[in-house]
Amino acid sequence: MDVAYDWDRLQPPKSLKFFETKWADRSNPISFSGVWRFRELLPFADPAAIMTIGEGQTILQKADGVAPYVGMNPGCLYLQYEGMNPSGSFKDNGMTAAFTHARMVGATRAACASTGNTSAALAVFCSATGLMKAIIFIGSGKISYGKLAQALDHGALTVQIAGDFDDAMQRVQQVSRQLGIYLVNSINPFRLEGQKTIMFRVLEALRWEVPDWIVVPGGNLGNVSSFGKAFMELMDLGLIQRPPRLAVINAAGANTYFNLFEKFDLRWNEGSPNQKTIDGYYQSLDVEKIRAATIASAIEINHPVNLPKALRALDRCGGVVREATDQEILDAKAKVGAGGLGCEPASAASVAGARKLRKEGIIAPSDRVVCVLTGHQLKDPTATVAYHSTDQRTFDEVLGHRGVRRATYANRAVQVPNDLDEIIKAIEVYS
Ligand code: F0G
Repeated sequence: MDVAYDWDRLQPPKSLKFFETKWADRSNPISFSGVWRFRELLPFADPAAIMTIGEGQTILQKADGVAPYVGMNPGCLYLQYEGMNPSGSFKDNGMTAAFTHARMVGATRAACASTGNTSAALAVFCSATGLMKAIIFIGSGKISYGKLAQALDHGALTVQIAGDFDDAMQRVQQVSRQLGIYLVNSINPFRLEGQKTIMFRVLEALRWEVPDWIVVPGGNLGNVSSFGKAFMELMDLGLIQRPPRLAVINAAGANTYFNLFEKFDLRWNEGSPNQKTIDGYYQSLDVEKIRAATIASAIEINHPVNLPKALRALDRCGGVVREATDQEILDAKAKVGAGGLGCEPASAASVAGARKLRKEGIIAPSDRVVCVLTGHQLKDPTATVAYHSTDQRTFDEVLGHRGVRRATYANRAVQVPNDLDEIIKAIEVYS
């Protein structure tokens, strides 16, 4: 299901510069919100119905510290840092929209399956507004501590299922249907309306110029679907002259989209993607008992619910899909951290993927590239600490079984006795 607007009966702006008028209206919460200041481009709600908690105050950072690692010229790599959202991930962009719609239809309970960020966002919206009860489904042992902590602290009813995200996603759909609970996963088209604004903010930060590439991690494929819709609508409205190209980066251990798009040539095909290819692929996963497995737990998903919309997005924007190993993801994450922004493993897939596309010559060093950092570093400290650890056992326990062999960019803590001279000596040696 898609949200479609009858633009002839609405009053969309004639130029993107129109949105600059909102900057002078920051005491109005819906103009302050990084989502709703673009409300004329997601006009499904009466302004009085909008539920905002100040989401979307995020930045596009020119990342010259990371550019050499990716192989980009100075000034050409940007990081869109969605970790600055109230719940620490891009999900708040979509949640404010879905939550608004839920209230419009009178819902009192909202549910999601989650690898941890959707659930954190829902829990925060419910607790901040006190308007709905959050019910979240998570795969047992499949959620990082930072995210579990959020669900618990913010009072969500947390249902741990003996299974993974794909199992939880199936169950939450059954349960929501049976009990009439509002579902806020990105299968909900209103979620995607909110996430369009991540791209509007990118354009805004580039003074309304369109970059050459948007690179985004792919899990349930909500973001790429939403970004594609945003650019299609901007094109239709004559607000941009061309879309950027989109690159989706799967984790190699959860690479359904990569396999279907790049290996099996599955395409949008004007709304009729080859269902036999899709069914055959999922059957082979079942037969071979392949489950998603990656340190980037946020994108540990083998059955992306937004597959058709994601195919449409790549069709319209001339997109590509790549996969990144856990080793590549963690190395890229360390480089992002050293460059000044902290992200969780899944987010760094975008940077690892951009590097790959640069090496392949698909991205040019002088292209303007935006990698989306979807979630905050503190979401998953376990992976980060293990990567930088001096303790081989910790490294092996967390990362070894995932095929991570080296921590090339580790910043190891220095062990010193509790002795002033020794401490001073260590600092002199290492700094
Ligand atoms: N990055 C992070 C940090 C995420 O949490 C997710 C998805 C993605 C990327 C993938 O985005 O689904 O739009 O392709 N997390 C979901 C969750 C599945 O439950 O929090 P997508």
